[in-house]
Amino acid sequence: MFLGLGPPPRLTRSPVLKTVSEMPHKGSAELACHLRLPLPLSGHERKMQKEDEADDTLFLDESFFVNRDYDLTTFTFGSHVLNLFCLRSASTDYDLTGQLVWPGAVLLNNYLSKNAEILEGHSVIELGSGVGITGILCSRFCREVVLTDHNEDVLEIMKKNIEIHLSSSEPSSPGLTAEKLEWGNSVQISEILQKHPGGFDLVLGADICFQQSSIPLLFNTVEKLLHFQEGKCRFILAYVSRAKR
Ligand SMILES: C[S@@+](CC[C@H](N)C(=O)[O-])C[C@H]1O[C@@H](n2cnc3c(N)ncnc32)[C@H](O)[C@@H]1O
Repeated sequence: MFLGLGPPPRLTRSPVLKTVSEMPHKGSAELACHLRLPLPLSGHERKMQKEDEADDTLFLDESFFVNRDYDLTTFTFGSHVLNLFCLRSASTDYDLTGQLVWPGAVLLNNYLSKNAEILEGHSVIELGSGVGITGILCSRFCREVVLTDHNEDVLEIMKKNIEIHLSSSEPSSPGLTAEKLEWGNSVQISEILQKHPGGFDLVLGADICFQQSSIPLLFNTVEKLLHFQEGKCRFILAYVSRAKR
C-alpha cells in the first residue's frame, strides 16, 4: 500500500519477471532472469498494473501528518513564569521545528530575564518565533512585540499562546501581535514596517540558524529591519550548538 500526498508517484513495485516455463523462448527467458531484466508488459498487463496502482493508493490530507497534541507547559526564567502550549519532541516534518521550545530560546530568555533593562519600553520584532516563548517573555517589559514565523501551523499555536498570555495579563499589556514573515520576503517585511512605521529597537532570533540555505535570506531580512532604524536597532541571535564532534 502507498500512503500518498498529491498525485501518485510512479510505480515502485518490482518489475514482473516471468519464469522460464512460462516463456515461449526459453533461451531469452533464461537470459532475462539471469540479468534480472524486466520483460516488456503486454497492453493487458499494463492496464492491470495501472488498476492495481489505483487500488493500492490511499490519499491522505496533509493535516493527517501534523501533530497538534500540544501540552500546556510551564517555563520559568528568573522570577518570570510562562505557561505555553508546545510539543515535547520534534515533529517528523523538518519544517515544523517551531512546534517546540529550543535550547536557543531557553538561553535567550534566561539572558533577557537577567538583563531586562535592554527591553524596557522598547519595540521588538522576533524572527522564527515558533510557539512564541521569547516574544511573550519580552512583552512583560516592552512597549510592543511582533512575533513572526513562516509556517501556518506554527503561527496557529503561536497565536493561541498569545491569546492565553493576553487573557492572563494586565489590561495594560503592550501590543503583542503575530505576523507571517518568510525570511527574504520583501512584501511581508514592507507590510510589517507599514504597520510599525517607527521600526523596531531590537530584532531577536533564537535557534534560527540551522539550515544553511536560509541563512542569507535571514540576514537579508535582519539587514532591512536594522537599516530602517538607521543605526538605532540591534540584533540578538541566540544559538546553542548541537553539532557532534
Ligand atoms: C528551531 S525553531 C526555533 C523556534 C523558537 N525560536 C525557539 O527557539 O524555540 C526555528 C523556527 O524558525 C522558523 N523558520 C524556519 N525557516 C524560516 C523561514 N525561512 N522564514 C521564517 N521562519 C522560518 C520555523 O518555522 C521555526 O519556528
